[in-house]
Amino acid sequence: MLSAVGPPVTVRVPAKVNLHLAVGELRPDGFHDLVTVFQALNLFDEVSVVAAHTAQSRGPVTHIGPGGPGVELLGDVDAEAAGVPLDATNLAWRAAVALGEEVGREPDVRIGIRKAIPVAGGMAGGSADAAGTLLALATLWRLDIGREGLMEVAARVGSDVAFALHGGTALGTGRGENLVPVLSRHTFHWVVALQDHGLSTPAVFGELDRLRAASDVKRIGDVEPVLEAVASGEARSLALLLGNDLQAAAVSMDPGLRRTLRAGVAAGALAGVVSGSGPTCIFLCTDGPTAVRVAAELAGAGVCRTVRVAHGPVPGAKVIDGDPAR
Ligand code: C5P
Repeated sequence: MLSAVGPPVTVRVPAKVNLHLAVGELRPDGFHDLVTVFQALNLFDEVSVVAAHTAQSRGPVTHIGPGGPGVELLGDVDAEAAGVPLDATNLAWRAAVALGEEVGREPDVRIGIRKAIPVAGGMAGGSADAAGTLLALATLWRLDIGREGLMEVAARVGSDVAFALHGGTALGTGRGENLVPVLSRHTFHWVVALQDHGLSTPAVFGELDRLRAASDVKRIGDVEPVLEAVASGEARSLALLLGNDLQAAAVSMDPGLRRTLRAGVAAGALAGVVSGSGPTCIFLCTDGPTAVRVAAELAGAGVCRTVRVAHGPVPGAKVIDGDPAR
């Protein structure tokens, strides 16, 4: 096998939203069975990996000693990103360890993450970084593992990691790791409202279990019409069908989200929904210019920290620098 020296490999990896997120019962393994439709949006983190003994500082480094294996944040690190754990619990690091175990190597690498995806926002930022790490390391180590092999490791690392590799629009079942591509040739336009705080994914799932035990919580409808709406490219049809079983739990833990959701629609979006386990809310708009207008109005409404205009679907994790095969 070739050694892991060489220039850093950089991967760009997208955020996800769930157009449909139906949550089943709590399983004995602590997870819930899901039926979900993921879509990748053009909000990207960048993940670079480099062999630890060749690592040099690549910009503002916020953590770890010189040259050692580990995780660091690159670029402007805002207060939110500063909350990302840079120890062995970091999902990107866990991905490196899992891939190392799979192929019998030490994860002797430094992982640099440039964050644009909100932290603990329900857009799978941590999972994106894990997916980016897997693809970057497979490239750095010149592994002959194939897309399928990488997807298997991804599924072990976290429920949303496989989708971040996959990208596009996909139907997810199981924990969300079993993926089938969904026909989607059309672009949808979104406004993303970010909050100044996160919500813990396990806590939101737990809150849904609690709400369901206490009363009859309404469940979202079937997934088939959502798939049809995605295939048709009709934003108006899709808007009527956006649904998330976790929304009730996220709103119960963070009641201000109700105001955010109302404000997006009042600003001209077709519909809004909490993304994943929240607190990020996403708003579907008829077209790009409308999304820009909605974003501007929402930004001034005092119901979120900041807004982004985005579109999807976009491809999954992609090597953008340092691929020796190119
Ligand atoms: O797989 P991931 O690390 O993203 O999951 C984080 C937590 O979210 C799990 O430990 C579990 O509490 C909850 N979860 C769940 N059912 C899923 C996915 C996540 O209950 N399908």
